[in-house]
Amino acid sequence: MAVRRKSRSGLLITFEGVEGSGKTTQLRRLATLLRQDGYRVVETREPGGTATAERIREILLSKPGRLPVTEPMTAACEVLLILAARSQHVTHVIEPALQAGSIVLCDRFSDSTLAYQGYARGLDLAMLREMNRLATGGLEPDLTLLLEVPVASGLIRRRKFALEQNRLDHETSEFHEKVRRGFQALAAGDPKRIKRIDGLPHPETVALEVRSVVGAFLTKARVNRLRTVMSALRARPPRSR
Ligand code: TMP
Repeated sequence: MAVRRKSRSGLLITFEGVEGSGKTTQLRRLATLLRQDGYRVVETREPGGTATAERIREILLSKPGRLPVTEPMTAACEVLLILAARSQHVTHVIEPALQAGSIVLCDRFSDSTLAYQGYARGLDLAMLREMNRLATGGLEPDLTLLLEVPVASGLIRRRKFALEQNRLDHETSEFHEKVRRGFQALAAGDPKRIKRIDGLPHPETVALEVRSVVGAFLTKARVNRLRTVMSALRARPPRSR
């Protein structure tokens, strides 16, 4: 499927990981630091990020047994809802922010679909990649931070801090283990974009690592941008007097 991508000056950084990996906390900390450094930052999440996508999130994640009691959700229904929400989010929030030159920090994105609906639910990965392209118009993260914790630690953390329990929290540990291994496989396949970070230490320690990885990435992005500008200037024919 052909996709058209607009040129843009912002950067998309996504946070990924199993439940309770600490990505939301780390995303907020990074946003504060980047703002202090003078960057324009947009914080957002998936599924969600727009009014419509947040309504889809409610349907998607509402705990079993909530009223009105609904029938079990099929894997196809789940993935179609996620991608419907992503399409709204990319079009109405992420792309405009990137066009405006912001750094967009997104709590989960396309890699979650491959890990949860692909590696864990068993839907075909090639099909999911194609569907992702439909929903995103071909938009891919510039950098992804994968916060790694063992499944059991993540689930305990979520319960301990009374974090919102969603429908997928109620999946078996085998399911979450498949998600964890899925993320590992994705990182192994794209080590340039997906940086693995140990999410187990104290949040302050994890934040230092996040800062160092993002700092190195931003320096590289600035140098690359400068190179592009310089070569465009060099390619211009000299003005005749
Ligand atoms: P969280 O962002 O609070 O962790 O919750 C989002 C839930 O949605 C989480 O259980 C993972 C799930 N999810 C998918 O299964 N596929 C996706 O593509 C995304 C973005 C989220």
